[in-house]
Amino acid sequence: MSNFYQAEVLSVHHWTDRLFSFTTTREASFRYQSGQFAMIGLEVDGKPLMRAYSMVSPHYEETLEFLSIKVPDGPLTSRLQNIRVGDSILVGRKASGTLLTQNLLPGRHLYLLGTGTGLAPFMSIVHDPEVYELYEKVILVHGCRQVSELAYQQRIAKELFEHEFLGELAAGRLLYYPTVTREPFENQGRIPDLLQSDHFFARLGLPAFCKADDRFMLCGSPAMLKDTVAVLESRGLTEGNMSHQGHYVIERAFVEK
Ligand code: A2P
Repeated sequence: MSNFYQAEVLSVHHWTDRLFSFTTTREASFRYQSGQFAMIGLEVDGKPLMRAYSMVSPHYEETLEFLSIKVPDGPLTSRLQNIRVGDSILVGRKASGTLLTQNLLPGRHLYLLGTGTGLAPFMSIVHDPEVYELYEKVILVHGCRQVSELAYQQRIAKELFEHEFLGELAAGRLLYYPTVTREPFENQGRIPDLLQSDHFFARLGLPAFCKADDRFMLCGSPAMLKDTVAVLESRGLTEGNMSHQGHYVIERAFVEK
């Protein structure tokens, strides 16, 4: 059996000239946990050209959803950005990834810190009922350059709370903090700076940084991960992985070179 299967594109949404998302069919045998990624791609010159993409869609959804940047000369995204409804893409049969609650020590507050397409794995996590059983508060922080890049704002801030099961679970528990760095917006600043500001925690109505209670998942560019980890490590937090639990876990957001 091939490592990939053909999924049909069901919808495409272009957020900006740098960002788009799309949904596809899902093979019944494809299973994943919230926060995981799969290899997806296209056949180019007779060969599969694949990259890691986190699933935006929660694990129980019948279709798959992905969020992607568009890189004009990127081998995959220069082509992928042109997909249309009815086209086929390749999806790997195996999901993996470290952004799993099982890799974290027990805690009270789960901070999901993502920049750009690093939002994707957290979309599936905030739509997973289980996360609200594990944490008193789930704080989704999404950092972007421009307001137009704050994908899924409506879905997070409105539709999730109107959902018949999730709405009740998330009420008062899911806190959404979009932040923009290159134009005026209600919240501004880079994630590592926010973590060091009293204003950020005060805006959320939460106590300042606490090693015993706070857990973190990070997804962004290598520079964002490095700078954010530096702040967490300076407070004595340790990284978790598949073999031992820690205070935080990280995943690199898909970046095409
Ligand atoms: P900034 O506008 O100050 O560069 P990108 O689109 O380049 O991936 O950036 C997404 C968001 O991540 C932007 O808000 C950007 O802020 C921010 N960012 C870039 N580098 C870092 C970093 N080292 N640490 C935290 N945030 C970063």
